Amino acid sequence: MQLRLAKTADQDAILSIYNKEVEETTNTFDIRPRTRREQRRWFKSHSGAYAAVVADVPKMGVVGFGSLSPYRERPGYTGTAEVSVYIHLQHRGKGVGQELLAFLEKLATQHGFRTLIARISESNEVSHKLFERAGFSLVGVERQVGRKFNRWLDCAIFQKILVDDLGRGVGKS
Ligand SMILES: CC(C)(COP(=O)(O)OP(=O)(O)OC[C@H]1O[C@@H](n2cnc3c(N)ncnc32)[C@H](O)[C@@H]1OP(=O)(O)O)[C@@H](O)C(=O)NCCC(=O)NCCS
Repeated sequence: MQLRLAKTADQDAILSIYNKEVEETTNTFDIRPRTRREQRRWFKSHSGAYAAVVADVPKMGVVGFGSLSPYRERPGYTGTAEVSVYIHLQHRGKGVGQELLAFLEKLATQHGFRTLIARISESNEVSHKLFERAGFSLVGVERQVGRKFNRWLDCAIFQKILVDDLGRGVGKS
């Protein structure tokens, strides 16, 4: 399996993995499928430090993707990025999520981010485990900030500090 930056040619695979989550789960708070045009916009906005990455398996293609996104617009937040990872249903539970997350952490460290935040639907236990296992800590829960499928949803905030005050990496990966 190759972990690499996403390319234009990966956009259909990313869109298909993402839209399944939009349509069938509360793992994302998007409520209508992303169009190809929106997907292209997403891709354009994920370059440089705010990377989009994929897990590419020989003969199968892209089985998962992840990204680093701006955490907040105000310039004082530029040391923080939001991280997310999505794996195709048929390829879960095989360590792909873990590897993509480690890859994103490595890129985030190289790009000088100090900390990563993951915002996860509170019922998404697998994702909680993934991030906890990677050294993220639960730092808070926003109550009933989302609504999907006629339910109010809590959002758990996980965080990992990547570098110490001397600029040394403190992450596991
Ligand atoms: C969350 C997600 C990315 C995990 O990816 P994955 O490739 O299946 O996870 P991995 O195989 O790397 O497993 C990582 C850890 O997650 C936990 N985990 C994975 N599958 C699990 C399952 N079915 N039940 C419970 N825990 C599970 C385990 O702690 C595992 O580590 P371990 O095997 O060493 O114990 C994947 O389930 C997914 O794409 N979910 C939908 C999208 C989503 O919720 N993304 C998160 C929002 S940012």
